[in-house]
Amino acid sequence: MIRLALTKGRIEQDAIKLLEKAGYDCTDLYEKGRRLLFYTGNKELEIVLAKAADVVTYVEHGVCDAGITGEDTIMEHGKRLYEVLDLGFGKCRFALAGIKGKNFYDGYSHKVIASKYPNVTKNYFNGKGMNVEIVKIEGSVELAPVLKLADAIVDIVETGSTLKENGLEVYEEVAPISTRLVVNTASVKLKRGEMNEFIDRLTDTVAKADKAEKKD
Ligand code: PRP
Repeated sequence: MIRLALTKGRIEQDAIKLLEKAGYDCTDLYEKGRRLLFYTGNKELEIVLAKAADVVTYVEHGVCDAGITGEDTIMEHGKRLYEVLDLGFGKCRFALAGIKGKNFYDGYSHKVIASKYPNVTKNYFNGKGMNVEIVKIEGSVELAPVLKLADAIVDIVETGSTLKENGLEVYEEVAPISTRLVVNTASVKLKRGEMNEFIDRLTDTVAKADKAEKKD
Protein backbone atom coordinates (compact mmCIF):
# COMPACT_ATOMS: atom_id res chain seq x y z
CA MET A 1 0.00 0.00 0.00
CA ILE A 2 1.14 3.54 -0.79
CA ARG A 3 0.53 6.24 1.80
CA LEU A 4 -0.36 9.51 0.08
CA ALA A 5 -0.48 12.86 1.88
CA LEU A 6 -3.09 15.13 0.36
CA THR A 7 -3.37 18.86 1.04
CA LYS A 8 -6.77 19.65 2.49
CA GLY A 9 -8.72 22.69 1.38
CA ARG A 10 -8.52 24.42 -2.00
CA ILE A 11 -6.89 21.67 -4.06
CA GLU A 12 -8.46 18.71 -2.24
CA GLN A 13 -11.45 18.24 -4.53
CA ASP A 14 -9.41 18.53 -7.75
CA ALA A 15 -6.92 16.03 -6.35
CA ILE A 16 -9.69 13.56 -5.50
CA LYS A 17 -11.15 13.99 -9.00
CA LEU A 18 -7.75 13.24 -10.50
CA LEU A 19 -7.32 10.11 -8.35
CA GLU A 20 -10.76 8.88 -9.39
CA LYS A 21 -10.01 9.48 -13.07
CA ALA A 22 -6.82 7.45 -12.53
CA GLY A 23 -9.03 4.59 -11.33
CA TYR A 24 -8.77 4.94 -7.55
CA ASP A 25 -12.09 4.62 -5.75
CA CYS A 26 -12.26 7.56 -3.31
CA THR A 27 -15.75 6.91 -1.89
CA ASP A 28 -14.27 6.79 1.62
CA LEU A 29 -13.46 10.51 1.29
CA TYR A 30 -17.02 11.59 0.50
CA GLU A 31 -18.28 11.62 4.10
CA LYS A 32 -15.18 12.59 5.99
CA GLY A 33 -16.52 13.81 9.31
CA ARG A 34 -13.46 14.63 11.43
CA ARG A 35 -11.42 11.65 10.21
CA LEU A 36 -8.00 12.32 8.70
CA LEU A 37 -7.09 8.85 7.37
CA PHE A 38 -8.84 7.19 4.44
CA TYR A 39 -8.48 4.23 2.09
CA THR A 40 -9.21 3.89 -1.59
CA GLY A 41 -11.21 0.83 -2.65
CA ASN A 42 -8.96 -2.29 -2.72
CA LYS A 43 -6.74 -0.42 -0.23
CA GLU A 44 -4.22 0.51 -2.94
CA LEU A 45 -3.77 3.91 -1.31
CA GLU A 46 -3.99 5.14 2.24
CA ILE A 47 -4.77 8.85 2.07
CA VAL A 48 -3.73 11.26 4.82
CA LEU A 49 -5.34 14.71 4.82
CA ALA A 50 -3.00 17.42 6.08
CA LYS A 51 -2.06 21.07 5.78
CA ALA A 52 0.21 21.89 2.85
CA ALA A 53 3.41 22.43 4.86
CA ASP A 54 2.77 19.21 6.81
CA VAL A 55 2.36 17.25 3.55
CA VAL A 56 5.93 18.31 2.75
CA THR A 57 7.12 17.31 6.25
CA TYR A 58 5.47 13.87 6.15
CA VAL A 59 6.91 13.07 2.71
CA GLU A 60 10.38 14.41 3.60
CA HIS A 61 10.44 12.24 6.73
CA GLY A 62 9.28 9.23 4.73
CA VAL A 63 6.16 8.49 6.80
CA CYS A 64 4.21 9.22 3.62
CA ASP A 65 5.45 7.81 0.31
CA ALA A 66 3.99 10.57 -1.84
CA GLY A 67 2.22 13.89 -1.50
CA ILE A 68 0.02 16.25 -3.45
CA THR A 69 0.59 19.90 -2.69
CA GLY A 70 1.11 23.34 -4.22
CA GLU A 71 4.42 24.42 -5.67
CA ASP A 72 4.17 27.48 -3.40
CA THR A 73 4.62 25.26 -0.33
CA ILE A 74 7.34 23.22 -2.02
CA MET A 75 9.25 26.42 -2.88
CA GLU A 76 8.88 27.64 0.71
CA HIS A 77 9.51 24.42 2.67
CA GLY A 78 10.53 21.51 0.48
CA LYS A 79 14.25 21.02 0.19
CA ARG A 80 14.50 17.26 0.26
CA LEU A 81 11.58 16.38 -1.97
CA TYR A 82 11.50 14.86 -5.40
CA GLU A 83 8.88 16.46 -7.64
CA VAL A 84 7.67 13.98 -10.21
CA LEU A 85 4.68 15.53 -11.87
CA ASP A 86 2.87 18.78 -12.55
CA LEU A 87 -0.77 17.83 -11.96
CA GLY A 88 -2.02 20.75 -14.05
CA PHE A 89 -4.53 22.23 -11.59
CA GLY A 90 -4.40 24.82 -8.82
CA LYS A 91 -2.73 27.20 -11.24
CA CYS A 92 -1.84 30.62 -9.85
CA ARG A 93 1.32 32.68 -9.39
CA PHE A 94 3.58 34.31 -6.87
CA ALA A 95 3.67 38.07 -7.35
CA LEU A 96 5.19 41.15 -5.82
CA ALA A 97 2.31 43.54 -5.20
CA GLY A 98 1.54 46.78 -3.45
CA ILE A 99 -0.52 49.95 -3.44
CA LYS A 100 -1.83 50.73 -6.92
CA GLY A 101 0.07 53.43 -8.82
CA LYS A 102 3.10 53.49 -6.47
CA ASN A 103 6.59 52.91 -7.86
CA PHE A 104 8.07 50.19 -5.66
CA TYR A 105 11.66 51.14 -6.54
CA ASP A 106 11.24 54.85 -5.72
CA GLY A 107 13.35 56.28 -2.88
CA TYR A 108 16.52 55.07 -1.16
CA SER A 109 15.13 53.67 2.08
CA HIS A 110 15.29 49.90 2.55
CA LYS A 111 12.11 48.08 1.62
CA VAL A 112 9.87 46.12 3.95
CA ILE A 113 8.11 43.13 2.39
CA ALA A 114 5.30 41.23 4.11
CA SER A 115 4.66 37.61 3.18
CA LYS A 116 3.41 34.23 4.29
CA TYR A 117 6.42 32.94 2.31
CA PRO A 118 9.62 34.44 3.81
CA ASN A 119 11.96 31.97 2.05
CA VAL A 120 10.42 32.58 -1.37
CA THR A 121 10.63 36.34 -0.72
CA LYS A 122 14.25 36.12 0.46
CA ASN A 123 15.30 34.06 -2.57
CA TYR A 124 13.53 36.42 -4.95
CA PHE A 125 15.25 39.54 -3.62
CA ASN A 126 18.60 37.75 -3.23
CA GLY A 127 18.32 36.99 -6.94
CA LYS A 128 17.97 40.71 -7.58
CA GLY A 129 20.90 41.48 -5.25
CA MET A 130 18.54 43.51 -3.05
CA ASN A 131 18.56 43.49 0.73
CA VAL A 132 15.00 43.78 2.10
CA GLU A 133 13.41 43.40 5.52
CA ILE A 134 10.88 40.57 5.53
CA VAL A 135 7.92 40.51 7.93
CA LYS A 136 6.15 37.16 8.26
CA ILE A 137 2.36 37.43 8.13
CA GLU A 138 0.03 34.47 8.63
CA GLY A 139 -2.89 35.44 6.37
CA SER A 140 -4.70 38.27 4.57
CA VAL A 141 -1.26 39.64 3.69
CA GLU A 142 -2.90 42.30 1.52
CA LEU A 143 -3.55 44.24 4.73
CA ALA A 144 0.17 44.91 5.31
CA PRO A 145 0.70 47.60 2.63
CA VAL A 146 -2.76 49.08 3.30
CA LEU A 147 -1.87 49.46 7.00
CA LYS A 148 1.59 50.77 5.98
CA LEU A 149 3.43 47.92 7.67
CA ALA A 150 5.13 47.05 4.38
CA ASP A 151 6.09 48.60 1.03
CA ALA A 152 4.90 45.50 -0.78
CA ILE A 153 3.90 41.87 -0.39
CA VAL A 154 4.97 38.63 -2.00
CA ASP A 155 1.86 36.50 -2.19
CA ILE A 156 -0.24 34.15 -4.25
CA VAL A 157 -2.45 35.74 -6.87
CA GLU A 158 -5.13 33.62 -8.45
CA THR A 159 -7.98 35.73 -9.85
CA GLY A 160 -6.49 39.03 -8.67
CA SER A 161 -9.74 39.97 -6.88
CA THR A 162 -8.20 40.26 -3.40
CA LEU A 163 -5.57 42.71 -4.68
CA LYS A 164 -8.11 44.72 -6.68
CA GLU A 165 -10.67 44.96 -3.91
CA ASN A 166 -8.02 46.29 -1.53
CA GLY A 167 -6.53 48.92 -3.87
CA LEU A 168 -3.40 46.92 -4.71
CA GLU A 169 -1.80 45.80 -7.96
CA VAL A 170 0.87 43.40 -9.18
CA TYR A 171 4.27 45.07 -9.55
CA GLU A 172 6.17 42.01 -10.75
CA GLU A 173 5.57 38.35 -11.45
CA VAL A 174 7.71 36.18 -9.18
CA ALA A 175 6.91 32.61 -10.31
CA PRO A 176 4.07 30.52 -11.74
CA ILE A 177 2.55 27.90 -9.40
CA SER A 178 0.58 24.69 -9.86
CA THR A 179 -0.16 21.54 -7.88
CA ARG A 180 2.58 18.92 -7.84
CA LEU A 181 3.04 15.25 -7.05
CA VAL A 182 6.06 14.78 -4.80
CA VAL A 183 7.59 11.52 -3.66
CA ASN A 184 9.97 10.26 -1.02
CA THR A 185 13.03 8.93 -2.82
CA ALA A 186 13.50 5.99 -0.43
CA SER A 187 9.86 4.94 -1.03
CA VAL A 188 10.47 4.95 -4.78
CA LYS A 189 13.28 2.43 -4.24
CA LEU A 190 11.62 0.31 -1.54
CA LYS A 191 8.17 0.12 -3.15
CA ARG A 192 9.36 0.36 -6.71
CA GLY A 193 6.59 -1.62 -8.42
CA GLU A 194 3.70 0.04 -6.57
CA MET A 195 5.20 3.52 -6.77
CA ASN A 196 5.90 3.25 -10.50
CA GLU A 197 2.36 2.07 -11.15
CA PHE A 198 0.92 4.93 -9.09
CA ILE A 199 3.09 7.57 -10.83
CA ASP A 200 2.33 6.08 -14.27
CA ARG A 201 -1.43 6.08 -13.63
CA LEU A 202 -1.38 9.74 -12.58
CA THR A 203 0.95 10.71 -15.43
CA ASP A 204 -1.37 9.09 -18.01
CA THR A 205 -4.45 10.73 -16.47
CA VAL A 206 -2.82 14.19 -16.50
CA ALA A 207 -1.67 13.68 -20.11
CA LYS A 208 -5.22 12.72 -21.15
CA ALA A 209 -6.68 15.77 -19.35
CA ASP A 210 -4.10 18.01 -21.11
CA LYS A 211 -5.02 16.57 -24.48
CA ALA A 212 -8.75 17.07 -23.84
CA GLU A 213 -8.12 20.67 -22.70
CA LYS A 214 -6.14 21.46 -25.85
CA LYS A 215 -8.92 20.01 -28.03
CA ASP A 216 -11.58 22.33 -26.47
C1 PRP B 1 -4.80 33.49 -0.92
C2 PRP B 1 -3.72 34.52 -1.15
C3 PRP B 1 -4.50 35.76 -1.48
C4 PRP B 1 -5.71 35.22 -2.21
C5 PRP B 1 -5.51 35.39 -3.70
O1 PRP B 1 -5.26 33.63 0.37
O2 PRP B 1 -2.89 34.67 -0.01
O3 PRP B 1 -4.90 36.45 -0.31
O4 PRP B 1 -5.80 33.83 -1.89
O5 PRP B 1 -6.61 34.93 -4.44
P1 PRP B 1 -7.30 35.84 -5.56
O6 PRP B 1 -6.21 36.39 -6.45
O7 PRP B 1 -8.19 34.88 -6.31
O8 PRP B 1 -8.08 36.94 -4.90
P2 PRP B 1 -6.22 32.58 1.10
O9 PRP B 1 -7.59 32.67 0.55
O10 PRP B 1 -5.59 31.22 0.98
O11 PRP B 1 -6.29 33.11 2.59
P3 PRP B 1 -5.23 33.77 3.56
O12 PRP B 1 -4.77 35.06 2.93
O13 PRP B 1 -5.97 34.02 4.81
O14 PRP B 1 -4.12 32.79 3.69
